[in-house]
Amino acid sequence: MRKTTTVAALLACVASAPLAAKEGMFTPQQLPEIADDLRATGLELDPEALSDLTGFPMGAIVSLGGCSASFVSPEGLVVTNHHCARGSVQYNSTAENNYLENGFLAKTKGAEVPAAPGSRIYVTTALTDVTDRVRAGTDALSPTDRYDTVEQRLKDITAECEEKAGYRCQVANFYGGAEYTLIERLEVRDVRLVYAPADSVGKYGGDIDNWMWPRHTGDFSFYRAYVAPDGSAADYAEENVPYQPEHHLKVSASGLDKGDFVMVAGYPGSTSRYALLAEVENTFGWNYPTFQTLLTEWIGTIEDAAPAGSDARVKYESRLAGLNNYEKNLRGQIDGARRVGLVDRRRAREAELARWIAADPSRANYGTAIAQLNALAEESAQAARTSFWYGNATRPQLLGAAQRLYRLSKEREKPNAQRESGYQDRDLTFFRQGLQALDRRYDPVVDKAEWLLFLNGYIQQPAAERVPAFDKALGLTPQTTAADLPGLLDSYYADTTLGDTETRLALMEADPATFEASDDPFIELAVALYDYDRGLEDAAEELAGRSLALRPAYMDAITQWQRSEGQLTYPDANSTLRITYGNVMGGSPFDGMQYLPFTTLEGITQKDTGEEPFNAPQRELDLIEAKDYGKYELDSINSVPVNFMSDLDVTGGNSGSATLNAKGQLVGLLFDGTFESVNSDWDFDPRTTRSIHVDSRYMLWVMDKVDGAQALIEEMDIVE
Ligand code: ARG
Repeated sequence: MRKTTTVAALLACVASAPLAAKEGMFTPQQLPEIADDLRATGLELDPEALSDLTGFPMGAIVSLGGCSASFVSPEGLVVTNHHCARGSVQYNSTAENNYLENGFLAKTKGAEVPAAPGSRIYVTTALTDVTDRVRAGTDALSPTDRYDTVEQRLKDITAECEEKAGYRCQVANFYGGAEYTLIERLEVRDVRLVYAPADSVGKYGGDIDNWMWPRHTGDFSFYRAYVAPDGSAADYAEENVPYQPEHHLKVSASGLDKGDFVMVAGYPGSTSRYALLAEVENTFGWNYPTFQTLLTEWIGTIEDAAPAGSDARVKYESRLAGLNNYEKNLRGQIDGARRVGLVDRRRAREAELARWIAADPSRANYGTAIAQLNALAEESAQAARTSFWYGNATRPQLLGAAQRLYRLSKEREKPNAQRESGYQDRDLTFFRQGLQALDRRYDPVVDKAEWLLFLNGYIQQPAAERVPAFDKALGLTPQTTAADLPGLLDSYYADTTLGDTETRLALMEADPATFEASDDPFIELAVALYDYDRGLEDAAEELAGRSLALRPAYMDAITQWQRSEGQLTYPDANSTLRITYGNVMGGSPFDGMQYLPFTTLEGITQKDTGEEPFNAPQRELDLIEAKDYGKYELDSINSVPVNFMSDLDVTGGNSGSATLNAKGQLVGLLFDGTFESVNSDWDFDPRTTRSIHVDSRYMLWVMDKVDGAQALIEEMDIVE
C-alpha cells in the first residue's frame, strides 16, 4: 500500500506520522532488502547490523519458549512481560507470602528464587540453512513417505545439533516447507525470578482491559539466567553463576514521543496471512464461531464448578486466564473478519493471483498446485470438522495423561531416534513436568463438569461424526441423552488412580502390557482409543505430506507476484525471530473513536475502583496524586507515560519482546494488540492494527518510586 504512494504524497506526509500501520514480520536476513524503508522510517542503526543475530542488538534478544525477552545487563538480567513470568510468581507464592498480591523483589542475587519448573531462556547461537538436506529426493515420494522422510531428517538434524551438551536445537519450516533453518540455542535451565510487580500493577485492568486501549498495565518482570561456573547450561544449583551475555540492551529513560521510530524484535508464534480462500471460509464460517461459543460455555462451566475463592479456583486460575484471553481474541478475529470483508478480500486476492498466473504460460504449474491445494483444504476442513467434537470429548486431563503414557510405552519399543517427536529422550523432562503440573491444575469436580459440557456437544452430532470406539468404550448409544451422562462418568472419577502424582510418574516406566491389563477407567479408555487415534494421525500426516508438496509452489507464486508489484514477501510467523518496525501513533479504530498514542499515570487513578482488577497500590496512587514524576515525565503529555501504542505488526508469542528506538535502546516491552488488530493474523488491516507496549519510563518509575528496586536500575545501563 505504501509502495504505490506518489513521491508528492510522501513528501506531504513527512511532517506528520503515517496514518496506516506497517505490515511485515521480517526475518533478520530480509532486512538488507528493505534497508531504505527502515532508514526512511527512522532507523539510525545500520540495517545490515540487524541481520547479525549474534551481534548487537539482536544478540540480546532471547526466547522463553512461548514468550520473548531480552538481556538488559551484563549479569544475565532478562526483562519480559509480567504475564509471561506470572506462572513463576504463582509457583513461589504461599498463603503467607502471596507474591501475586504483594509483588516479588529479590534485594540481592542470593534472594532470587527458581522460576516455575520448565522455565527456560533460549539464547540463539547459530543459524544454518538445511533446506537441501531436508528436501533432497522427497519430490518423488508419496505424501506419507514424504512426510515421514522429512520428519526423520528433522529429528536427525536436531539430534546431531544437540550432541553439543546444553543446547536445544530446532528446525524451523518457512513458506510451507520451501525452506528449513536449523536454529542452535543455548538452553539456560537455571532461570530465577528477580522481580515482579504486584498483580495490581503488572496485571492492572485484568481481563476487562485485555486486548483493549486505553491501557494502564505494568506488564513487566525480570528473570536472571544462571549457568554452571564453567559457563555451560545446567540445572538449578546453588553454585551456579549469572550468565554473561555477549550483548545486552541499554534502557532508555527518556526520548520516545509521538511519531518516533520503534521496532520490535521477538518470536511471533503463528499467522495465516497466505491462507487460501477455502481455509479462510472454513475457519471463519465454522471453526472460529463454533469454538468461540464453546469457549464461552467452557469458561462459565469452570466458573460455576470452581467458585471464586475456592481451592479449585486457584488451580484453574491460569486455565481461565488462557481461555478468556483466547475467547476474546477469537471474538476480535470474527469481528475483524466481518469488518474488513475478509472472505471477499481473499476471493479477490486469489482472482488477482490467478490473473497473474494466466498472463504467462510458464506459470501454469502454479495454477495446478493451487487447485490441488484447494482440494486439500476442503479435505482438511472436513477432517477438522469431524474430529472437532471428538477432540473436545477427549479433553479430560487424566484421559490425556493416560493417552500420553500409553503412547510413551509404545514409542519406547523403538530406538530413540525413530520415536515420534514428543516421546524422544530429549522430551522426557518436559513430559515428566507435565505429569507433575497436573497436581496444581486438576480438580475432579471441575474436570467432570468440563467433560459433561463437551460430551453434551458430542452426543448431538450426526452418526457420521461420532467415533464408534469412543461410543462403545463410554457406553454411548444413539438413545443416550444429556441426563444419562453424569451417571456414565461417575465411575471414572471414583475408580481412577491417576489423580495421584506418584502413580502417574511411575507409569512412565511401564510397558504396553501393563496398560492393556489395567482396570483404571481412564487407562482403559486410552487403550480403547489408541488405534483410532493413530488412524487420525496417519490421515493428518498424509494431508501434511501433500501440503509439503504443494504449498512451496503456491508461496513461490505469491512471492513472484508480490515482487512484480514491488512488495517483499515475508514468511508467516513460525516462532522464529522476526523484526517489525514503524512508529509511535494512535489511531481511529472505528467511527467516532480516536485513540491517543500514550496513556498517563493519571489514567490509573481515573480507572481505579479499589477493586480487582482496578486496585492500584495505595503508594502508587499517592505518588500520582503528588505528581511525583521524577525524571520520567514526558513533556508533551505532562505525566509519566504508562503504555503506548504503535503501528507494528505482531502476534501471540511476541509478548515480552523488546521495543527498541532508532538507536536500538529499549524503550518498552510489547505486550498486547488492540481488539481491532487481532484479525490481522489473517489479513493485515493497516487502518486499525495497533500494538500496545509498556513504556520503559513507567517501568523505571515503578521500580524507582513504588517498589524500591534501585539496585536493578543501577545494574542496567540507563540512557537519558
Ligand atoms: N492479550 C495478551 C496476549 O495474548 C495476554 C494478556 C494476558 N493478560 C490477561 N489479562 N489475560 O499476548
